[in-house]
Amino acid sequence: MTGASDRGTAPVVLSMGGSVLVTGDGDERYLPDLVVLLRRLMEEFPLVVTAGGGRVARDYIRLGRSLGLTETELDELGIDVSRLNARLLASLIGPPCPAHPAGSIAEAVRDAHRSPIIVLGGTEPGHTTDGVAGMLAERLRAQRLVNATRVPGVFERDPRKDPTARRIDRLDYAGFRKMVDAAVSGTAGQQFVFDRLGLDALARAQIPLRIVEGRDLANLERALRGEKFVGTEIR
Ligand code: UTP
Repeated sequence: MTGASDRGTAPVVLSMGGSVLVTGDGDERYLPDLVVLLRRLMEEFPLVVTAGGGRVARDYIRLGRSLGLTETELDELGIDVSRLNARLLASLIGPPCPAHPAGSIAEAVRDAHRSPIIVLGGTEPGHTTDGVAGMLAERLRAQRLVNATRVPGVFERDPRKDPTARRIDRLDYAGFRKMVDAAVSGTAGQQFVFDRLGLDALARAQIPLRIVEGRDLANLERALRGEKFVGTEIR
């Protein structure tokens, strides 16, 4: 099997929010369709996918916090749930995707050089799977990173709290960094559309970030291919 570095095509990194992958609503239909899309695209360019922990991770983190676990222990719960989601997606994709999610960036780089698609979850306490995706995008000199999330892009204000908030179609790294700083505290299970660590890696390497609603697979495909899409582009 040809790996990422041999193909002459830079990989595309996809950060799948756990709250998109496993919602408890129509997952039996969504996941096979997502897998068909990923298997088709991996024939055109290498894909590196991170899976988030979603609601299950946050349920564990909430319970652990109420029982007095440390922030690091809570992060470790989140990492294990994200790895469970990664294994689910990797198993559905099947060979050549390694079923066992890489446990570190170094291991993921090795896997990505051997397979046209890999899926992993979190790696280090204090990070998020968006952070892992950003660091891997930099390390693998990716073409772009697509963040598949529950909202269709970056909004002026949280659209779930304020339905009149408008989407911002284009942003530069510095403008988005300000929004991330205002929204993110750095504790386990925190939620914002993307995170500081991932964004800083992308900004250093000048890799564009596209934020899309992950359940619309036609739009997700356009974003992954680098075509015109509905969502927010940060560059
Ligand atoms: P994520 O925040 O990445 O999953 O991990 P998510 O909430 O599904 O992602 P989005 O927001 O929908 O995209 C869940 C938690 O697991 C821990 C953190 O506590 C994080 O909030 N984690 C995850 C780590 O500590 N390190 C990692 O590398 C990944």
